[in-house]
Amino acid sequence: MKPIALTGIKPTGKPHIGNYLGMYRPALDLMENYQGMYFVADLHALTTMHDAATLKDLVYEVAASWLALGLDPDEAIFFRQSDIPEIPEFTWIMSCFTSKGLLNRAHAYKDAVDKNLELNRDPDEGINAGLFYYPVLMAADILLYGSDVVPVGLDQKQHIEITRDIAEAFNRTYGDVLKVPEGLIQESVMKVPGIDGRKMSKSYDNTIPIFAPEKKLRKQVMRIVTDSKRPEDPKDPDDDNLFALLRFFASPERLEEIRELYVGGGAAYGELKKELASLILEHFADARVKFDNLIQNKDYLDKVLLEGAQKARAMGKPYLQAARKATGLD
Ligand code: TRP
Repeated sequence: MKPIALTGIKPTGKPHIGNYLGMYRPALDLMENYQGMYFVADLHALTTMHDAATLKDLVYEVAASWLALGLDPDEAIFFRQSDIPEIPEFTWIMSCFTSKGLLNRAHAYKDAVDKNLELNRDPDEGINAGLFYYPVLMAADILLYGSDVVPVGLDQKQHIEITRDIAEAFNRTYGDVLKVPEGLIQESVMKVPGIDGRKMSKSYDNTIPIFAPEKKLRKQVMRIVTDSKRPEDPKDPDDDNLFALLRFFASPERLEEIRELYVGGGAAYGELKKELASLILEHFADARVKFDNLIQNKDYLDKVLLEGAQKARAMGKPYLQAARKATGLD
């Protein structure tokens, strides 16, 4: 069997172009050399998302997105995290090999504490223990199946390091039971700017959603922030988020033409935004049709996810059993 590439996507927002370029596409490309295991991380989402209907909807949106963007459920093992009952058990076992200090220093938790301190609040105000435990749950996700590589964005690097720490601590105690995974950091994630020029991210509300209705998608592209230069003014293409986005969707020849317009004068932002919107719609034309069909067909999505969960559970059982045995629980 091929080595395993595993990654999870948290269903906390509608899939956008940054997700596609930074996560979906690289993960799908990896399938050539790896067995893909891709899942919807709904247990992780629960640390922040406490609206049941929204969580449920977003799980379906993410599942439909994977399938629409080309994931073949006969090739990849594709599932929903909460369909794996071994995960909470494994999380607990892993937590007993996780130094608490490591969790204190995990970015998401530490940022929340720092924010409270800044506001002169109790350091842990409003922070649930799930957020604190987030890295342990993620380590369990990765270690349960003996994952070889974990393709993630730079923002997840620390989580991979924590995972490796946990696996090494376990193995130091009991011998070589767990596979210590490698992160496959997708540096390019950082380079997909949102419509305001910051990294494209749901938390900045600056995304271009892939599957929004055409009108909405176009409107969002028209909102891309540019400076106030007139069309005839020369502009620096390498310091412009509209150009940075065009780079991902225009053909090399067209991109070169646009670059010349920027440098020599003649690039009209409004026109180029319209062109970008059309390029995006064209690029995702098939996927958008597929998505619209899939999202109407929740029974099918449920079925695909459950079949995937069965395969994932079969992959995880030997590791759970080995861990139970090693620790004396079995
Ligand atoms: N924490 C990841 C994110 O926010 C999602 C995730 C959960 C994940 N479990 C994982 C990613 C396991 C890789 C492997 O993006």
